[in-house]
Amino acid sequence: MILVSIKARCHNVASFIDLNRCVQSPETFENPDQFWPDRYLLTKYGTKPGVDDSSFRDNIIFGAGRRICPGIQTANLSLTINVTNLLWAFTYSKAKDPLTGFEIPIDPSKMANGFVLSPLPFECSIQPRNQKIAGLIHNHFVDAIDVFKQYEDALQQEDKEHVAQVRSHLV
Ligand code: HEM
Repeated sequence: MILVSIKARCHNVASFIDLNRCVQSPETFENPDQFWPDRYLLTKYGTKPGVDDSSFRDNIIFGAGRRICPGIQTANLSLTINVTNLLWAFTYSKAKDPLTGFEIPIDPSKMANGFVLSPLPFECSIQPRNQKIAGLIHNHFVDAIDVFKQYEDALQQEDKEHVAQVRSHLV
């Protein structure tokens, strides 16, 4: 989730909406730090029942005012397609410690510093939902190699090595 958004730029003035602060308000959200998607079953914006959310809107992440992002539809459609594909294809769970077998906890408060907040790397487990899906992904991945190769000249050496290593496992 992108948590900070530029609001407007005019006459050399920049103003910013601190979305992180907005979505972390305990007056507005029940346990704002907790990953609890069910909150959106209670109210449209996941606010506490009874909170006035009439000033909330769907696309605040894309900015506000005259300079609002013109790529909203492209971005939303692209995200919908990609996220639904990822949910269709994989199951997601916590990684397990190979020695103890216990789940490795994830601390969602560990964020990288910066203008746009993003989580620090964390361990998790992402597995294809079944063999049929794994086979489909494999075949599409192989088919896409020639398409991607045209754009790989500019990759950094580290990324080139990663791509070569991934492809070396393909049959
Ligand atoms: C999830 C994806 C995206 C997010 C969260 C996002 C967010 C934003 C935000 C916050 C702004 C600043 C708005 C402001 O100043 O108030 C912006 C500007 C802009 N975005 Fe996006 N954007 C996304 C995707 C896209 C895409 C896919 C395109 C193009 C196809 C695009 C094109 C632009 C352009 C051209 C501006 C500058 C508009 C201007 O200053 O007049 N964005 N975006």
